[in-house]
Parts: sequence; structure tokens; C-alpha cells
Amino acid sequence: MKHLIDPTDLSVEEIDEILNLALDIIDNHDKYKDACRGKKLATLFFEPSTRTRLSFEAAMMELGGNVLGFSSAESSSATKGESVGDTIRVVGCYADIIAMRHPKEGAPMLGSMVSPVPIINAGDGGHNHPTQTLTDLLTIKREKGELKNFTIGLCGDLKFGRTVHSLIKALSRYEGIKFVLISPKELKVPDYIITEVFEKNNIDYREVTTMEEVMSELDIIYMTRVQKERFFNEADYVRLKDTYILDKSKLKNAKDTLTIMHPLPRVNEISTELDDDPRAAYFRQAMNGKYVRMALMLTLLGVNV
Ligand code: CP
Repeated sequence: MKHLIDPTDLSVEEIDEILNLALDIIDNHDKYKDACRGKKLATLFFEPSTRTRLSFEAAMMELGGNVLGFSSAESSSATKGESVGDTIRVVGCYADIIAMRHPKEGAPMLGSMVSPVPIINAGDGGHNHPTQTLTDLLTIKREKGELKNFTIGLCGDLKFGRTVHSLIKALSRYEGIKFVLISPKELKVPDYIITEVFEKNNIDYREVTTMEEVMSELDIIYMTRVQKERFFNEADYVRLKDTYILDKSKLKNAKDTLTIMHPLPRVNEISTELDDDPRAAYFRQAMNGKYVRMALMLTLLGVNV
């Protein structure tokens, strides 16, 4: 039985298979409509979500299966003191696969150690978000045609932004990717990413503080929200939250072929004036999340169509 806790739990070959399956689902949707008939997905969300939870649930419904679960810790027995381990053991009696989001780093990993069914990490604190990474990889593959030889600017809260940590780990295994890390000094990418991913693998990366100085070089700009919920100090959040706002003026020197991505939700990081720009891929990205989660669940459940 396989779980997905960290993006590197999947090899590059396994990721390619999942992305190719997602592309087949997009092209031949009807072929998959009964693939998970009789299967149940449990969504255990101890933290808020719109896209991840609902796209998982839509994905299982479109595969002909059913869903159960909760959307906040308050509506679960966690409020009575039940441990993550006990919750997972019990839900594993009711469901065939579990997608779990938790504010504590490592909680889905803990769950996977006692789970009788596959566990998918749907986001753990400021740590990882591997299904967002699969979403991002499918989006890059569809927008760019391939997953190699491009320069990506990651902009915003690179300290607490789990989508960025997971995406860096996954993309660093592909050929010819250059990373430009755009953040204020308080929100730089954690040291372990620099040493364990970039330096250890001799990856081309650079840290800057403004998007204007690098915009003309970028093939992709990946904007992120400043993660209010991870700050200890409200004043620091207020000071940093609007550091980067992408709008038409900032794209003055950008490539015509630039792809603008954001895992969403956005607050102010991308002006709505860009929503109709053909380079704005963030709503297409959200749609890709459903297809890639369909492909992932088929894979982890061992369902062949
Ligand atoms: N991208 C993402 O994880 O969005 P949600 O928090 O709405 O699930």
C-alpha cells in the first residue's frame, strides 16, 4: 500500500504516469465514470480549504465513488481529545482512501503509520502540499508542453508557503530548471530547502527581493499568498502582506509566453485586471487539480481502466 505524504514519495516516472493518466481523463472523461464505483473517499480537513477538499470530492464523484468526512476540526471528535492516530484507524474502517489536511507538520505522516488504507497529505502546516504540486506539474505540462528547461520565479511567502516547498522538491528532479526566489528577507525559503535540495543537487537558484529585477527572464511566475495563519505576530503580517502585487505595470518587461500561476486562494497578490490575460493560468490550474486528484486516487487504489 502506498501513501502520498511528501512529493518525493513518488518517483519522477510515477509522477509522469499520474500526469499522463490525468491527461487521458481530460480527453476521455466518460471512460472513467464508473472506475471507483463502490469506493469511498474520506476527506478529513482539520484546517480550512476550498479547492483541495472540494476537488478531491468532485474527483471521487466523477469516478463514480462516494465521499464522507468533515471540513473542520470542530465538527470532529478531535475536539474531545481524540488523537490523529485513533481517528485514522477508525476512518480506515469506513473508507477506502483518506485525504487529510492538518495544521501540524507531520500529522499525515503519523496517520500513515497506522492507517489500513492509503493516506494522502492534503497539506500539513507550513510543510508540504504534494497534491498541489501534482496540480502545478500538470498545469506546467499543459501550458508549456514539457517539464524541463525553464526559469520559474517563486514569489511571496516562501517561508510558510507549503506549496512552494513541495514544488521545489518535485521540480528540482527535472532537467534544466532555474529557480528565482523572490521574497522579503523575513519570508525567505527555509534553510533546509537551500541545503538539502538546491545545494545538495547542484541546482541553479538565486534569491532576490523584487519581481521587477527578474521579470524579463521568467518563463513562469508562481505567486503565493502571505500565510496569515502561520504568523505569531499580527503586526508582522500586516507589514508584509502586500509586499508583492502583480499587475499590468509589473508585466511591462515580461515574456509574451510567461505563465502566471498561483495555488489560490489569492488575497491581493495578483490584481484582478490580469484575470483575462491569456498568460493567467491560475483558474485553469485549479481545474487541473480535480483531474490530477482523479488520476492519483486511481493510482493509489490500484484501479486500472
Ligand atoms: N490551493 C489550496 O490548497 O487551496 P485550498 O486551501 O482552498 O484547499
